[in-house]
Amino acid sequence: MAFSEKFIDDLVARNDIVDVVSGYVRLSKRSGANQFGLCPFHSEKTPSFSVNQEKQIYHCFGCGKGGSVINFIMEIENLGYRDAVAFLARRAGMTMPEEQNDAESRKRVRMLALNKDAARFFYEQLATPAGKRAGDYMAQRRISPATARNFGIGYAPDSWDSLEKAMRQKGYTDFELADAGLVRRGKSGGFYDTFRNRLMFPVIDVRGNVIGFSGRILGDGEPKYMNSPETLVFNKSRNLFALNLAKKSKSGYIILSEGNIDVVSLHQAGFDSAVASLGTSLTPEQARLLSRYTNQVIIAYDNDGAGLKASQRAITILEKLDVKVKVLRLTGAKDPDEFIKAKGPEAFRKLLEGSENQVDYRLRGVTEKYDLSVDEQKVEFLKEATELVARLPGLVERQVYAMRVASLAGVAEELITQEVERRRKRLVNRAYREEERRQTQPERQSQPPEKELRYDDPVSARAEEGMIRLLSLEPELGARPGLPEAERFSSPALARIYGVLRGRIARHESVSGASLGEELSGAEMSLLVRIQQEPVDFGKGDRALQDYIKIIQDRCQQRTEKDAPLDLRALAERQREKGKRYE
Ligand code: UTP
Ligand code: MN
Repeated sequence: MAFSEKFIDDLVARNDIVDVVSGYVRLSKRSGANQFGLCPFHSEKTPSFSVNQEKQIYHCFGCGKGGSVINFIMEIENLGYRDAVAFLARRAGMTMPEEQNDAESRKRVRMLALNKDAARFFYEQLATPAGKRAGDYMAQRRISPATARNFGIGYAPDSWDSLEKAMRQKGYTDFELADAGLVRRGKSGGFYDTFRNRLMFPVIDVRGNVIGFSGRILGDGEPKYMNSPETLVFNKSRNLFALNLAKKSKSGYIILSEGNIDVVSLHQAGFDSAVASLGTSLTPEQARLLSRYTNQVIIAYDNDGAGLKASQRAITILEKLDVKVKVLRLTGAKDPDEFIKAKGPEAFRKLLEGSENQVDYRLRGVTEKYDLSVDEQKVEFLKEATELVARLPGLVERQVYAMRVASLAGVAEELITQEVERRRKRLVNRAYREEERRQTQPERQSQPPEKELRYDDPVSARAEEGMIRLLSLEPELGARPGLPEAERFSSPALARIYGVLRGRIARHESVSGASLGEELSGAEMSLLVRIQQEPVDFGKGDRALQDYIKIIQDRCQQRTEKDAPLDLRALAERQREKGKRYE
């Protein structure tokens, strides 16, 4: 469902961009209408991230990102358009249009509210005399109060009904509590608290909703953890513990570990991109979720057989999604938590930097897959291992690994080296052909930084950008006759923007502002904001418009002719000649 323009305008008015951005970025410098700060989207030392309160937009001169307050939230919270709108609506205390009448979604909203209240209740227990036990346990595990706050860690009292009572007082029914998995029904028909005398970890999704809980026993005992059951809002295999925090990390990778305690410990030591997979081995859904936030995962599973097996599984799943995977080899500790406590964060950082690369690790995986004393298996092993080594970019590296493969299989070294280089040549040839294809395309200049937006025809793209700039400044020009169709544009992204602008002009809707974000992707929105930032000669609109039209039409014709089969090209040529004669 599309949001009405009025709703979006309201939303933007009630979420002033300077306010919202200030929650994430310290805006310290002012220059003209702009306030500047360090860009949250790329690493920098001098501020090039600007916010313009008047226009209610942001723009980074360094990385080129920009847009409305909605785009900002999409980018920084890693949310889709709808979720970003919901996020801001919640921030401003507005009701989302569709939430007003839909039984199922009302139930969801209610359950989320209950979960949030329950999380608050658990957190508040830490400060009570009864909560001292949990405080002591955290101290023993060296979890600081600041970390507890960051994760919202709390305590479920040693009682059958303290949560139930507190939530009933807030107006929730036992049935609602039961649906959320927070109470259970006893044999006599009464309800009792699910979590008792446990350290409570709320599980928070990427939108900031508390979707469930994971409760650890204080000390030894069984079961060590209790988790919320599957509910309307909680699906273990689709969520990752602490991804809500990790998604904001600037580290460029995500650390995947097994335990909640490991994650907490990692964050506390400054590794703010750690997540855990909620007690299951990584599922394809979780991997897909991860791949939305990073293209590199560093696996830091427990240092035992189960951890090793789970790592292999995770690698296979992640690599299918083109996520680069490295595996950490913890030495002298059973898990990341123990490692950090024993050797300190610096040692862990070193480990991260030297984490076993994918080839090393996979080679080990391949080796363990086969019984090398059986001939057929050895052949399979060699096939797989040489292909792996052939993909290494450095000659020396390839030789080192070829040697290793040779000694593993007990085969002559030259044989392996030859095989590796033969496979290498094949790979290189393939890459060459690709490169050639790329080279023959027209030269690229003033390209957008986003790879997917690269212009194939920069000359035409310039004019297309100009057209868009004009239309967003002087929408009435959109009604002039002779404007080209969007299909004539060379850049699909610019064509999209142009099409959206014209559609809005035709419907008398505004062509600036946040509603555009619904129709444009984040990258497209950034592109539009960049285009709008460039200076324009006011008053020359009409003249410029005619120039742009001509360039776009000409370039389009040239492109079609180049692509057309020969006879068609000749035909076009003749037609042009004819045209000239009658001009
Ligand atoms: P661990 O036993 O490694 O727990 O289980 P941990 O969080 O690292 O805690 P410590 O450091 O040993 O005290 C890894 C994860 O598996 C899930 C939990 O999510 C836990 O964090 N798990 C474990 C369960 O769901 N149920 C269990 O009974 C045990
Ligand atoms: Mn553990």
